Amino acid sequence: CGIVGYLGERDAYPILIKGLQRLEYRGYDSAGVALLDHSTLHLYKKKGKVSDLEAEAAGKNQSGHLGIGHTRWATHGPPNDNNSHPHVSNNGKIALIHNGIIENYSSLKEALISRGFVFHSDTDTEVLVNLIEDVMNSEDLDLENAVRVALNQVIGAYAICVFSLENDRTIVTAKMGSPLVIGIGNDEFFVASDATPFLEYTKKAVYLEDGEMATINLDHGLRVRSIKDNRTIDPYVQQLQMDLASIEKGGYEHFMLKEIYEQPKAIYDTFRGRLLPDQNMIKMGGLFEYKEKFLNANRIIIVGCGTSWHAGLVGEYLFEDLARIPVEVEYASEFRYRNPVITDQDVVIAISQSGETADTLAAIKLAKEHGATIFGICNVVGSSIARETHAGAYTHAGPEIGVASTKAFTAQVTVLSLLAIEIAKMKGTLSETRYHELLEELNGIPKKMEAMLQSDSKVREISERFKDATNCLYLGRGYNFPVALEGALKLKEISYIHAEGYPAAEMKHGPIALIDENMPVFVIAPRNGQYDKIVSNIQEVKARNGKIVAIVSEGDTEIAKMSDFTLEIPDSSEAFSPLLTTVPLQLLSYHIAVMRGCNVDQPRNLAKSVTVE
Ligand code: G6P
Repeated sequence: CGIVGYLGERDAYPILIKGLQRLEYRGYDSAGVALLDHSTLHLYKKKGKVSDLEAEAAGKNQSGHLGIGHTRWATHGPPNDNNSHPHVSNNGKIALIHNGIIENYSSLKEALISRGFVFHSDTDTEVLVNLIEDVMNSEDLDLENAVRVALNQVIGAYAICVFSLENDRTIVTAKMGSPLVIGIGNDEFFVASDATPFLEYTKKAVYLEDGEMATINLDHGLRVRSIKDNRTIDPYVQQLQMDLASIEKGGYEHFMLKEIYEQPKAIYDTFRGRLLPDQNMIKMGGLFEYKEKFLNANRIIIVGCGTSWHAGLVGEYLFEDLARIPVEVEYASEFRYRNPVITDQDVVIAISQSGETADTLAAIKLAKEHGATIFGICNVVGSSIARETHAGAYTHAGPEIGVASTKAFTAQVTVLSLLAIEIAKMKGTLSETRYHELLEELNGIPKKMEAMLQSDSKVREISERFKDATNCLYLGRGYNFPVALEGALKLKEISYIHAEGYPAAEMKHGPIALIDENMPVFVIAPRNGQYDKIVSNIQEVKARNGKIVAIVSEGDTEIAKMSDFTLEIPDSSEAFSPLLTTVPLQLLSYHIAVMRGCNVDQPRNLAKSVTVE
């Protein structure tokens, strides 16, 4: 979910709506705003997108200089108008928005019902707002103190923003587990899940830490305290570096397309200042600081979810192949719950675009407790995972808005490549010559990618041909097996076509049964790697009349003869081929989804940042 709040001289409504649109990547099942107009509440909530909310509020009273807004990704209760936030307490005097999950909501709810409270939604949030009302009345507290006392009874994760109808100069916010940032303008304040809703108004921001709450008051400013013991905390005000252009579409029809095209720059920005082929070196502060840990590691465990997990799989090939360190790649959600064996000799690499994924965050906390060294690869600067790790390297891909991850993936693979190459050098598993060749080659990847992105007419033609498919298979071997998984994920996420990625050789142990003349099979078959083996796999598909689209190296004629379509990529070492082979598969999913009329940037049921477990 995404939350936003405003308190100041301006009309809150337009600021909230624009802010919610920027936060829609966090969920878009339903949306709502609560505006305080002196002591009158205007509350609008609607199932669907922020645009549906706008339609709902059109022509109605939108005044108020204090307001809060919410865009939801349903957890408790289906997306409908009732379950939408903001929620208002029984006496109608407190309004609240919430991102996260209150785990003990049912026992709290029972207690409140026994005290006469009535509930109108299935949400855990309505429990919290009534709990605050209950505390406020029974203990005769002001809003700030009632929120603090109530939160001490709550188990779970939250970022909340709340106000009372009796005070139009105050907003109270608190954070535990879900992100929350406060923007400080001139006599005005903003609250949001990330800084994008207020970038055009102020660059001064305070990121709340877990267990902190803040009271924002137009007369007294910002006051931060700890939820547990009411201790005063000095807020750390930072100057944001982000610019507005980076979060706008810039002439592209969709964010996803823009982000696909930004990849050469994203990769370049990710290795800028780190990859120095002229000086024959790689500079990575986080790695050098924990060099001994990496060199003496029994193994590396890579954790992540979704696309980040796929990047981790490419990392496995890189680390084992180049640096000869055993690697395990784990879904964060499985790893954390299966009583894993972790020691202080392990290095855990956590990969996350958002840096907020709840399962990944919990997995690294667990590994940390067992003494492992945690290295983060995150895109969002200052995110929870970035702060929880011992060391790390940011991907500098810039904000990624499209729900389907593209440039974050290739940037993650770039960081993993830098790490693996440098560790390999330190360990002596790479010759000086090979080291230098790899640096030069990686340095040239953005240019190769740019050349590939010059024309997508062939991709469009293939998309047109297969846009009505109901099932697709993606096959790859070695370094390109994870690319097959990622290609299939991209297609299913945004076009709702069922797709499966498989190691090409495993096809004969199952998916081959699905192949007939209607089944498109996308084979990632660059010249490096196990070329002859994959040629045999293509023959096996061909023999069963499957339709073959092959991603091949420039000038390949052998596979071209066997395939229905080919897409060429520039030559590269096998280690870097995922950076190139991924791109045509992203474009293919994009065009197919557009041709099918799907909402590419906001596919149904998904959210970009999943802050629930
Ligand atoms: C969600 C997104 C995916 C993303 C995954 C992990 O499912 O829709 O695109 O790969 O979360 O997110 P993270 O921010 O941790 O990389």
